[in-house]
Amino acid sequence: MKSTSISNKLNIVILAAGAGKRMQSILPKVLHTLAGNSLLQHVINTARRLLPNKICIVIGHGGEAVRKAILDDDLIWITQEQQLGTGHAVMQALPHLDKEEQTLVLYGDVPLINIATLEKLIQATKNEQCALMTAVLPDATGYGRIVRDVKSKGITAIVEQKEANHEQLAIREINTGIMLIPNQYLHEWLPELKNSNAQQEYYLTDVIGMAAKLGIEIASAQPLNTWEVMGVNNKRQLAELERIYQGERANELLEQGVKLIDPGRIDIRGSLSCESDVEIDVNCIFEGNVVLGKGVKIGANCILKNVTVAADTHIHPYSLIEDTEIANDCRIGPYARIRPGTKLSSKVHIGNFVEVKNSQIALGTKANHLSYIGDSIIGKGVNIGAGTITCNYDGANKYQTIIEDDVFVGSDTQFVAPVRISKGSTIGAGSTITKDTPENTLTLARSKQVSISGWKRPVKKANK
Ligand code: UD1
Ligand code: CA
Repeated sequence: MKSTSISNKLNIVILAAGAGKRMQSILPKVLHTLAGNSLLQHVINTARRLLPNKICIVIGHGGEAVRKAILDDDLIWITQEQQLGTGHAVMQALPHLDKEEQTLVLYGDVPLINIATLEKLIQATKNEQCALMTAVLPDATGYGRIVRDVKSKGITAIVEQKEANHEQLAIREINTGIMLIPNQYLHEWLPELKNSNAQQEYYLTDVIGMAAKLGIEIASAQPLNTWEVMGVNNKRQLAELERIYQGERANELLEQGVKLIDPGRIDIRGSLSCESDVEIDVNCIFEGNVVLGKGVKIGANCILKNVTVAADTHIHPYSLIEDTEIANDCRIGPYARIRPGTKLSSKVHIGNFVEVKNSQIALGTKANHLSYIGDSIIGKGVNIGAGTITCNYDGANKYQTIIEDDVFVGSDTQFVAPVRISKGSTIGAGSTITKDTPENTLTLARSKQVSISGWKRPVKKANK
């Protein structure tokens, strides 16, 4: 059956059974993270964008842990009990590979492969053809070499490093491992593979020699960037790819007009989208989904996770904000901690050493110093004095504090929740408020000041 479009009959097999000994870790290699996501998750996310019919993942070492860590529920998991080579690995997936379709082989430890590069490979093939992603490297050591016919320049074989002769070792065009092969050929060729080679493995790469012998043309394509096809074998390579990834993200932001004080000092572990005139100082980390509105400024050393910030809000240095919605024109930090479930309206000020958790704070309210606001609903134009604490927890349950509009809270106040502070109330400094307060009144709850004359300070006992 001839196809009309490749991608709607595409299968993807991701190889992820290897041990990854050189990572020196009990965590399976493909679960190590890059930009906050596992290596394998990066590959799965990219694979998905090609709209394949199915994605098969070949697991082996730490297979159970890998399966558990990946939450996508439409993957086909295949266990390769013994790692007998890349050809053997793809063979385990054969029962799932429909003969009318074709398979793109990806590696679970090559995380930065790009959709545009894969599309290039797909476009390089005509129907019933094989295609290889190759790259020309200054140093090809360790890789399978691409052998081409001297005259036609067509690919005739891939020779692994350990089998290569002197002449082949000089070849700098290498096999990235990424290839596209019609499934009918995989069904014919994989069972024919032999492991009579230096590593006694069933090499997937041997199918290329088989194809060439049958006169089947092998197309090739090169990645748009060499780093896309680089694998992770050790922590050093992982760190290198992390920097490359972050550099790319930083460049994208710069191109969109975001001002990064130092593009070398930003980490994006998820998605960061910015409107115009956003400024980000050094050493900020963005996790999950972060959206920054027009004119937002983020000071140095801030961490934002799943946060939306509206226009012209400034977040000062060393603030840590998680699962929070912040409206326009707010001033946050320095040293603010805002925890999940918080919603700040316009012009709210949250100052240094203020912790806010699961609270809503309305227009123009200020908590500028040293406070804990938890499970609270706070109205408009409220002033929370320094050192105010909502006592939201009795050791077993959590309770709510409600502070209505235009309340003035004196410094060092405790609100023992549940409690409601009515509109326009003033709370005297140092109060422990346990009961609801009436509107527009001053409430004080503290012992009377006394001065004891004749009282003597204790004196230090003499050393014997
Ligand atoms: C392979 C290629 C080589 C290519 C190189 C690119 C073969 C025979 N050689 O070599 O031409 O230049 O990749 O990096 O294919 N895997 C399994 N099951 C196995 C063996 C491997 O799932 O039984 C997985 C590994 O986890 C890894 C990938 O396949 O993700 C590649 O395996 P690896 O052993 O690293 O292949 P290389 O010897 O580097
Ligand atoms: Ca490898």
